[in-house]
Amino acid sequence: MNAARDDKRIPHVKLPADARLDTLAVREGLPPSPWGENSEALFLTSSFVHPDAATAAARFANKEEAFVYSRFTNPTTMMMERRLAALEGTEACIATASGMSAIALIVFGLLKAGDHVICSQSVFGSTIKLLGGEFAKFGIETTFVSQTDVAQWRTALRPQTRLLFAESPTNPLTEVCDIRALADIAHDAGALLAVDNCFCSPALQRPVQMGADLIIHSGTKYLDGQGRVIAGAVCASEAIVNDKLVPVMRSVGMSLSPFNAWVVLKGMETLSIRMRAQSERAAQLASWLEQQPQVEKVYYPGLKSHPQHELAMAQQSGVGGAVTSFIVKSGDADSARRNAFHVIDQTRICSITANLGDTKTTITHPASTSHGRLTEAQRQAAGITQGMIRLAVGLDDVEDLKADLLRGFESLNT
Ligand SMILES: Cc1ncc(COP(=O)(O)O)c(C=O)c1O
Repeated sequence: MNAARDDKRIPHVKLPADARLDTLAVREGLPPSPWGENSEALFLTSSFVHPDAATAAARFANKEEAFVYSRFTNPTTMMMERRLAALEGTEACIATASGMSAIALIVFGLLKAGDHVICSQSVFGSTIKLLGGEFAKFGIETTFVSQTDVAQWRTALRPQTRLLFAESPTNPLTEVCDIRALADIAHDAGALLAVDNCFCSPALQRPVQMGADLIIHSGTKYLDGQGRVIAGAVCASEAIVNDKLVPVMRSVGMSLSPFNAWVVLKGMETLSIRMRAQSERAAQLASWLEQQPQVEKVYYPGLKSHPQHELAMAQQSGVGGAVTSFIVKSGDADSARRNAFHVIDQTRICSITANLGDTKTTITHPASTSHGRLTEAQRQAAGITQGMIRLAVGLDDVEDLKADLLRGFESLNT
């Protein structure tokens, strides 16, 4: 790159090329403003002023990289994007208004009518609705397959397949897919692999290292980490982000507000220590749940009983993550839902909410909340039963959480 072109690029923070994840998480972004602030500034402005009309024209025509209009460029948002790209190990990142709009953005940017998508049937309920419902209206067809059966993904391939979409571990069953195997299937077919990395975050799992092309984030979850804002992002190569996604963002405007970007940017500074501390608590709780007589089954990738335990440990830096789900014992479907509701309602500490990734432990009944919009058949395919409860473990003391759940277990009519 020549010096003249260099001058027209927005500068980077000067960090050693081999800076590690924890350093990148607190420092990657933009150099400080002329005032020398140490904590990143929040630029709440809709547009940016140009020195003259010719410069404005050059900037609008992308001949000079500069901030123009916060629908598609903003310094605070760019700091968040650069930091997340650095953590995921991708060349680029584009922030979006929510996790769902990150998924919509890749479909708008990469697919057209007649294209085909293969998606795990156990992904987040709204993802199933979006791909299987909304985009089907525009002639983009999605085939849903087993998260864990690699052969099903291969069999579902068609000449029109352009995208494979997975989430690992899944919400709420914590099913783990073989990211490298799916990347190979996608690439052999000339398609791309997108992985929703919401549950692990780059602190535990970097799907790009296993061959994924696009990393999806709901920044609402662990990136913010304190349940404050709705946010999303796509991490990918510069060619995908700059050529395919940024133009759609400019036209469609599903942009992240600079304020929300700032919250996520600062949230990422503690991502690594939160993920490890919360995962440690989840692991303790999952082992304890397995020993409770009122619990039929526990789902947690860190448990030896988890069907993909070894794969999870290999893909997730040896850590199970902070989400565990379990099934309360019951006689039939009616009592299953009643018993699950009873355990949830007896808690005094856990927050009854479907969000996850918060420092406050959350408890939810997936069948009637996060996956409530699915048909019974879709729910069954996803393995979500009426007796299932999901815990997204925060930083609460584990002993307090055990006591919170025990209150419900001990008063159950099984
Ligand atoms: C795995 C996963 N992906 C995507 C989303 C959607 O994110 P958002 O709520 O930020 O749109 C969620 C939300 O719960 C999720 O759990």
